[in-house]
Amino acid sequence: MLGLFVSLYGMKESWKPGTVLYPLPAVLVSCGAAPEEYNMLTVAWTGTVCSEPPMCFVSIRPSRHSYDIIRRTGEFVINLTTERLARAADWCGVRSGRDFDKFREMGLTPGRALHVAAPIIGESPVNIECRVRQIVPLGSHDMFIAEVVGVQVDADFIDPDTGKFCLERACPIVYSHGEYFALGRALGHFGWSVRKKPAAKPTAKPVSKAASGASAKRTASSSAAAPQTGSGRPKKRPAGK
Ligand SMILES: Cc1cc2nc3c(=O)[nH]c(=O)nc-3n(C[C@H](O)[C@H](O)[C@H](O)COP(=O)(O)O)c2cc1C
Repeated sequence: MLGLFVSLYGMKESWKPGTVLYPLPAVLVSCGAAPEEYNMLTVAWTGTVCSEPPMCFVSIRPSRHSYDIIRRTGEFVINLTTERLARAADWCGVRSGRDFDKFREMGLTPGRALHVAAPIIGESPVNIECRVRQIVPLGSHDMFIAEVVGVQVDADFIDPDTGKFCLERACPIVYSHGEYFALGRALGHFGWSVRKKPAAKPTAKPVSKAASGASAKRTASSSAAAPQTGSGRPKKRPAGK
């Protein structure tokens, strides 16, 4: 039943089923085996589907000019977008390569990918080179599931001291419910919720083993120091997600 109702948490509104999984990246997907057919389109229906082997997907309507190119060549590049690329991300999502040379119109540089014939977008900080493994017709869109065969990152965002790639310095953007947004402040790193707090100063009275909870079930608050190695860092690192 659609409409307003009161839930345990307050007033809720029931909507018909729809795509409300937001925010999402709005990536520029570049394609084409030769400069004459190079093209790019904006894609929000995209994501990572496997870590090992690394695999991504993009869902594309068959009516898109890029659809036939990607289907024929079996290759594409996912280019992350930034505040500087926000206008291009929108423009390339409302104009077709049938009518425009989008690289020229947007003043963007088609660069050489290392593992696929499709071009990278030089101005994008991360270029994910993909080879199509499976095409799944779903309805309005076909899902192209692809293996990541190479990644190029902009060396300007690699911290010279730590070697860490600092994507946030590239000012990535997200797409949420019809609008583009810049990212806000960082809230914590992967695993911070379970990270061991600095050891507290010893109390005057030693706590007995039973009372310390050693044999009791953990609570969310006590688990802050529990499910991890002695180093206090979580066992899993983001790369292993
Ligand atoms: C923010 C945004 C997200 C989009 N996401 C998708 C998508 O996931 N799949 C798709 O087929 N089209 C998507 N589009 C629409 C295409 O990018 C658009 O139709 C584009 O003009 C196709 O270009 P082409 O004809 O040169 O291939 C999106 C557009 C915008 C603005």
